Formats: sequence, structure tokens, C-alpha cells
Amino acid sequence: MPEAMRTAILISGRGSNMETLLKASASPDYPVEMALVLSNNPEAKGLTTASQAGIKAVALDHRDYADRDSFESALTARLLEAGIEMICLAGFMRLLNPAFVTKWHNRLINIHPSLLPAYKGLDTYARAIDAGETYAGCSVHYVRPEMDAGPIILQAAVHILDGDTPEGLASRVLAEEHRIYPEALKMVALGKVDVRNEKVVGYDPDAAIAALENQG
Ligand code: GRF
Repeated sequence: MPEAMRTAILISGRGSNMETLLKASASPDYPVEMALVLSNNPEAKGLTTASQAGIKAVALDHRDYADRDSFESALTARLLEAGIEMICLAGFMRLLNPAFVTKWHNRLINIHPSLLPAYKGLDTYARAIDAGETYAGCSVHYVRPEMDAGPIILQAAVHILDGDTPEGLASRVLAEEHRIYPEALKMVALGKVDVRNEKVVGYDPDAAIAALENQG
């Protein structure tokens, strides 16, 4: 088995996706070593969860920096110092400058609670319900400078039910996030995800079908 990919997770809050990634990486056959958790929010609950799991957890408060560039330079310094090869955004609520995103090209992934490219941005659940959609879902994708854009690695769909509320839908989508994020990261770490012309090719059909079959 190739050496485990040294990975960092960037969070801003609760950190439930972070927790599932940490749990997955605790298994000896998972091809990822979680080396660092960084949060721009010192109050993030996820920082405590990560420390308790024995993972180095660092707060870098963006308000301590004059601008986005200097905050991101500090982030980069921490990431390089820890020998990080791959970054997972998991509820990281800061936009990243193109320079940062370009530096980590195809080594920076995110999870977003919609079936991208639909419903970029915030309030995805209420917007999908209000629009009368029958499906919502979540997407793991490579990050590009444009918000919530980039080649899609894995998605899972969830039915929108009669009388659904944003909260109810969010919790069912979150369960799918927790399932597909570790799976997508594993595919990346194993080198199964190839990006050509800004699309993921060599998609693992078994993983994709499993994602759809488990939609509940
Ligand atoms: C998730 O819904 C994720 O899709 C979005 O932010 C939320 C983070 O939740 N990007 P958590 O902090 O992982 O619990």
C-alpha cells in the first residue's frame, strides 16, 4: 500500500464532517493520515473534538490578520510546516483567494450541501424546498477560485419529502455527507480520481452506484 497521504482539515464550527474523516483515517487500511485540523474560529467545537481524538488542532483567528492574504499566508505556513499534501474543507466558512486555491490545485477538496452545480452558496435546503425540487443532496468537489465550483468527485441524492423542513432535510443530507466525504477522500488518496478538462474522469462506478443506492 502506498504511503498514507498527509492531510489537513479546515473547519469553522461544529466539525461533524471532520469527525467522520478522523474516524475513517483511524482505520489502518484507510490511505490517509490526518495530521492537522485548522480553524479560523477559535470557538469551533470541532477543535475540541480533534484534540480529544489526539489530532493536532490549531486556531488561526482570521480577525488577527490585516487582510485575507496575510491570513492565508499564515495558513499556508502551518500547512507546509506540517508536511501537508492534501486539504479537506469541512464547513470552513471563509472564501479563499485565488492564489491559495491555485497553490493547492487538485490538493484541496470541499463538501457542499447541494447537488452541484445547483444551489451554490448558503441556505441550500430552503432554496431547494422552495423551488419544488424532488431531490437535494451533497457534493464533494475539487476547489476552484469560483465559489462552490470545481470538478465533482462524488455526490449523493436525498429525496425531498412532502412538508419537508430545511432542518429535517439538512439532517438527512448530513448523514449522506458523512458517508461520501470519507469515500471521496479515499478515492483521491488512492489516485483513482483523474481530472481532465476540468471534469473528473475514471469515476469509480461502484462508489457512485453505492452512493445512489444508499440514498434512503
Ligand atoms: C456541512 O453541511 C457542509 O456541507 C457545509 O457546512 C456544513 C458543515 O457541517 N460545507 P460540519 O461542521 O461538518 O458539522
